[in-house]
Amino acid sequence: MTSEIDLSCRNINKTFDDFIAVRDVSFEIPRGSFFSILGPSGCGKTTLLRMLAGFLEPSSGDITIKGRSMLGIPPNKRPVNMVFQHLALFPMMTVAENIAYGLRRRKEKPAEIKRKVADALERVGLPGVGDRAISQLSGGQKQRIAIARCLVLEPDVLLLDEPLGALDLKLREHMKVELKKLQQAFGTTFIYITHDQSEAMVMSDNVAVMNSGRFEQVGSPQDLYYNPSTAFVAGFVGESNRFSGTVVSRAGNIVEVKTECGQHLHASERVDLNLASGQKVELFVRPEMIHLSREPQQSTDNSMTGQVENILFDGGNSRLLIRETSSGSEIQVVHPQTSEFSDINKGDTLFLSWKADQSHVFLDTNERGEA
Ligand SMILES: Nc1ncnc2c1ncn2[C@@H]1O[C@H](COP(=O)(O)OP(=O)(O)OP(=O)(O)O)[C@@H](O)[C@H]1O
Ligand SMILES: [Mg+2]
Repeated sequence: MTSEIDLSCRNINKTFDDFIAVRDVSFEIPRGSFFSILGPSGCGKTTLLRMLAGFLEPSSGDITIKGRSMLGIPPNKRPVNMVFQHLALFPMMTVAENIAYGLRRRKEKPAEIKRKVADALERVGLPGVGDRAISQLSGGQKQRIAIARCLVLEPDVLLLDEPLGALDLKLREHMKVELKKLQQAFGTTFIYITHDQSEAMVMSDNVAVMNSGRFEQVGSPQDLYYNPSTAFVAGFVGESNRFSGTVVSRAGNIVEVKTECGQHLHASERVDLNLASGQKVELFVRPEMIHLSREPQQSTDNSMTGQVENILFDGGNSRLLIRETSSGSEIQVVHPQTSEFSDINKGDTLFLSWKADQSHVFLDTNERGEA
């Protein structure tokens, strides 16, 4: 991968009448990388992708691909292709005819088309299925054909709008890995939109977390997970225990918070927040960051005592639901699959602890004064 920029957006806005669907979005995507846009339903993902593809014009801002502005350039003249959520394969054509469709429209030579189609089928791992009808393929195979049909046109950028949405869970898990491999094999820049954080995290070099039309944070999956920059990102990416409370004091970047349930907790603050006493905040700690013990802990930044209320078995992702004794609040902790905890029962008392820098504190979303 080079660091050459394939696609960049500068201050993109899109309004529908007086509704702002995309607000002031800027980003750059290096050539050959896998970039995901992750956000809840209605946050503006498809609107943004349609602007990149050329089906919608931005209300303001600029989009460049390989340094050339795309404003006013129709979809078929842009070096991009789009894979839609509800894939649009032609059911009356064979697999090979589907893949050849775009090449025929470009009036490429029949021998050349035949070679490219066979090559594309090979590369998506389905050699020899060219003569089959679309109805003779499984959901995952159809998805790969839809992608082959785009990749055969050798776009600089491939746009994918929730392409795994229609597949069942098992197949989605499989296709996640397949898609990442395909992207690496072709070396094409992928822009992938999804509301599924696990899809975005597994496949991407970089992820933009989108909320209400805005990019909240752009970063590597590790960045988003370990250093979320807003409460929204902390809550949306991965699992977290969330506490609402008020700032009591601070020492350096460690903030003491009194929660609504009356607990006193300590968390690290991102340098740019400058939280002050009395401000309403949200505090996050991930279930796997909490240390469990059967004995009371030496004084740590955060400690609690609670009873096991439920054991949620899910293999390596098993959780304990713990009801804190003094406040009654519920906390999820990863269930360590070690012999020490293998005989744990409902009602057992456990001691919980974690360090301040293993949890994050943000200004309460409602206090951020958003329009
Ligand atoms: N042509 C349009 N006219 C008016 N409003 C629109 C139009 N297209 C989209 N919107 C609105 O813009 C917002 C963003 O829509 P968009 O389709 O981009 O969301 P999304 O993030 O793709 O959601 P989903 O995950 O459900 O597909 C929504 O509130 C939607 O109702
Ligand atoms: Mg959408």
